[in-house]
Amino acid sequence: MSSVRHLAIIMDGNGRWAEQRGMPRWKGHEKGAEAVRRVSEAACRLEIPILTLFAFSSENWKRPSKEIRILFGLFERYLRGERSSLIKNGIRLSAFGRRDRLPPRLCDSLRAAEEATRGGRKLHLRIAVDYGSRHEIVEAAQAVARDCVRQELSPEEITEDLFARRLPTRDIPDPDLIIRTAGEQRISNFLLWQAAYSELYFCPKPWPDFDAPDLEEALAEYHARSRKFGALPCAKNNGVFCGGLPLPYADKKNQRPSAAVSG
Ligand code: FPP
Repeated sequence: MSSVRHLAIIMDGNGRWAEQRGMPRWKGHEKGAEAVRRVSEAACRLEIPILTLFAFSSENWKRPSKEIRILFGLFERYLRGERSSLIKNGIRLSAFGRRDRLPPRLCDSLRAAEEATRGGRKLHLRIAVDYGSRHEIVEAAQAVARDCVRQELSPEEITEDLFARRLPTRDIPDPDLIIRTAGEQRISNFLLWQAAYSELYFCPKPWPDFDAPDLEEALAEYHARSRKFGALPCAKNNGVFCGGLPLPYADKKNQRPSAAVSG
């Protein structure tokens, strides 16, 4: 298994890819869907257990309604068209983000794909749809506040771990590596809490051109970096992090100690 347990990708540059070729923007999204298939298969081959893709942000609602309709249509087409190959390749698909604003047909397709691929053990492919990290943090804060009002929790009992357990990612390790394509260097409201110690990698290629060798290059750079989580370096990212910490942490691959110091 790769020492990257969780890879997250901000798939950017579909529109520019199309515009540079004199094509309508949706052509870039269509090519982007092909890249999703290629990169998921590469993640399987590279034994990365969790791949999270940012497909539609809560801010993407500001786009023209025609582009949104096309995107949702592409998602549906992907979910229907890829179902059997996801099952064959041992890929479990799940989506996260708000569902209450999505078209019912897309919700049905998401549910059906999640149900059909539930048994996949090779890769967990997580797709963020109508996702905004600030929103999920606010929802978690509301849940904690409600428990305090009900006196089931006192404010002093609120710790980082307790708060993280209120987030939808409670059962998922934080991303080890976040890749953003198309040259922009920002996080854009993606996994803000979970990215606290993620390595960031910015690739100049637009998402439709991103392929297995680009992923391998990103992983090679990741492995050449030293993750310290605020402690002292002791190993490259070859699967073992000890950072000068007591041994119990050293055999948990790249796992952030829960009481990490800042840095
Ligand atoms: C960003 O490019 C990309 C999106 C907003 C949509 C991502 C969607 C796909 C890759 C299509 C298929 C996805 C799945 C999960 C099947 P942009 O349009 O913002 O590009 P630009 O910055 O060049 O305009």
